[in-house]
This record gives sequence, structure tokens and C-alpha cells, in this order.
Amino acid sequence: MAEAGERGIRLFVSLDPPLEARRTAAEWGRGVARNERGLRPVRADAIHLTLAFLGTLPAGQVEVLAEAIERVGRTVPELTTGAPLWLPRRRPRALALEVREETGGLESLRADLVAEIGRASGWRPDREGFLPHLTVARAGRGFRPSPDGLEVAPPLRFRPQAITLYRSHLEPEAARYESLFSLSLGTRTSGDGGRTPGAG
Ligand code: 2AM
Repeated sequence: MAEAGERGIRLFVSLDPPLEARRTAAEWGRGVARNERGLRPVRADAIHLTLAFLGTLPAGQVEVLAEAIERVGRTVPELTTGAPLWLPRRRPRALALEVREETGGLESLRADLVAEIGRASGWRPDREGFLPHLTVARAGRGFRPSPDGLEVAPPLRFRPQAITLYRSHLEPEAARYESLFSLSLGTRTSGDGGRTPGAG
């Protein structure tokens, strides 16, 4: 297909919160966006916790990336959300909820994933730091948050349901995320590891 041809496809790996947590986060984002000119809320079904933004890679690597995810996928401890964050801090393009995890399980999952994907595909993260967050709204260039401050954010507590390899389609209104491969978490005793190839 020409679309997925030699230029490659834009990929990232994320943790998917359960729908209820996504809905609550999205609702808060909508509330803030109503009062912030130029801020667009993210739909509940698009809310995710990015573990690794892979950038543009050849479509032929999807299978080895899926295998890398299978090697690291495991139950993730309970996550909680903390303070709202404007990202990047100086010239914000996104409003996010900070994600916290006390035991180090999220950090170590992310580190193992980065290592496995690196071994499988040669990819390296373009920055070492990992700031786990759920983006709930996005803005264009030149956006300035109002000086009034943010409404109090809902304290979410959830266990991610799946680790998913997404393809990001950049569309005029908002990016559309297509699941290419998803591994259910916390159900690995079933024998098949909860593997569900994406529709595309
Ligand atoms: P964000 O939520 O902080 O915007 C798909 O674009 C996902 O990959 C988003 O969650 C986005 O993070 C993240 N992403 C996009 N571009 C990125 C980049 N250059 N570096 C790191 N993460 C990126």
C-alpha cells in the first residue's frame, strides 16, 4: 500500500487505562477546554499512557515489535493520577494528568520495553527521561494557558488493561490511533497471553 510504503508508519506503545478512568480523565479535559481558548479535549477512547514513542518505522517491523511487547508484557501495579501538567512546561501544547506509581513497577516495565524494542528494531528513545502522563487535551502553536489556574483534577486509581502498539494517523482535526497489536495485562495465565492482533 502506498500509504504504509517506504516512508514508514508512525508508531507508539502505550498502556491503556480502563474505560471508566479514560472517561473521567476526558471529562475533566473537556471541562478545562471549555474555559481555555484553543484547547481541544482528547476523546476518551484516545486517552493512553505512552511508554515509548517510536516515531516513523518501516511497516514490516510491526511483527517484531509485537514480539518485543509480548516478552515484556506483565501485570502493572495500580497507577494513580496526581497534579495536572502543562507539557512542555514553557510553551504548552498539551494538558496532562501526571501518573504516579510507588513500587517502581511502571519504570521497570518501561525500561524493559525500551531495551527489548531496541534489540528487536534498533530504535532508541530520543530522550532518556520518562514522565508518565495521560494527555487529556491538546493545543496548537502559540497557545497560552489562562493565568487563572486549573480546576482541581480528579484523583484516578486504575490498573492498565493492555499494552498496545498503536499507529498514529495524523489527521487535520486530531490524530487517530489504530491498534495494531494489543496484549491484555493481568490475564497471562490463560495460555495465549491475552494476545489480540489489531484490526489493521
Ligand atoms: P503526549 O501525549 O505527551 O503528546 C502519540 O503521538 C503519542 O506519542 C502521544 O501520547 C504523545 O505524547 C507521544 N509523542 C508524540 N511525539 C512524541 C515525541 N516526539 N517524543 C515523545 N513522545 C511523543
